[in-house]
Amino acid sequence: MSALSFATATIALMQPEDLPAVIEIERQSNSHPWTERNFQDAVTSGYLSLVARELGQVCAFAIARTLVDEAELLLIAVTPSERRQGVAALMWIDLTQRLRIAGATKIFLEVRASNAPARSFYTSRGLTPIGVRKNYYPNGVHDGDREDAILMQVAL
Ligand SMILES: CC(C)(COP(=O)(O)OP(=O)(O)OC[C@H]1O[C@@H](n2cnc3c(N)ncnc32)[C@H](O)[C@@H]1OP(=O)(O)O)[C@@H](O)C(=O)NCCC(=O)NCCS
Repeated sequence: MSALSFATATIALMQPEDLPAVIEIERQSNSHPWTERNFQDAVTSGYLSLVARELGQVCAFAIARTLVDEAELLLIAVTPSERRQGVAALMWIDLTQRLRIAGATKIFLEVRASNAPARSFYTSRGLTPIGVRKNYYPNGVHDGDREDAILMQVAL
């Protein structure tokens, strides 16, 4: 009999004590990471902030805000060693369920044009491109260079 294979992470609301681990995952995942202050502001602003835990350790997080009946995903990241195991997919289910209950009817986000893993993840969740913001992001490679943002959206 073959072993079952499934995501074993648990999803919960982010707590203040999760911040050091969250900031470390963000630092490992983004060329222009949010600062501790950015995260504190998100919590103060009441943004929906989730973490995923494996064996008690924070291994991923997601932050979204609602704007009337729309939601915007601001950040999602999984610690590099835990990627491609369904953790982000699991967080996505919890996040979108909570946003739907809060009255959001769609979710949108911006993603770097060069971020193939994230674009592939969003496509796998049903998001489709709806526009481009030219030269939106600072480019991590060359100072002064900018990178396009792809806007993606899906109905909740
Ligand atoms: C994008 C990210 C959150 C995905 O997290 P993850 O836990 O690895 O994703 P999952 O394992 O849940 O993947 C679900 C599906 O997304 C797609 N996907 C995820 N990562 C992918 C990759 N590297 N290449 C291609 N498809 C990918 C696949 O369809 C995958 O299903 P499969 O594994 O059955 O093929 C993760 O790569 C990450 O943290 N990246 C750095 C931070 C970042 O770029 N965040 C987005 C900023 S806009």
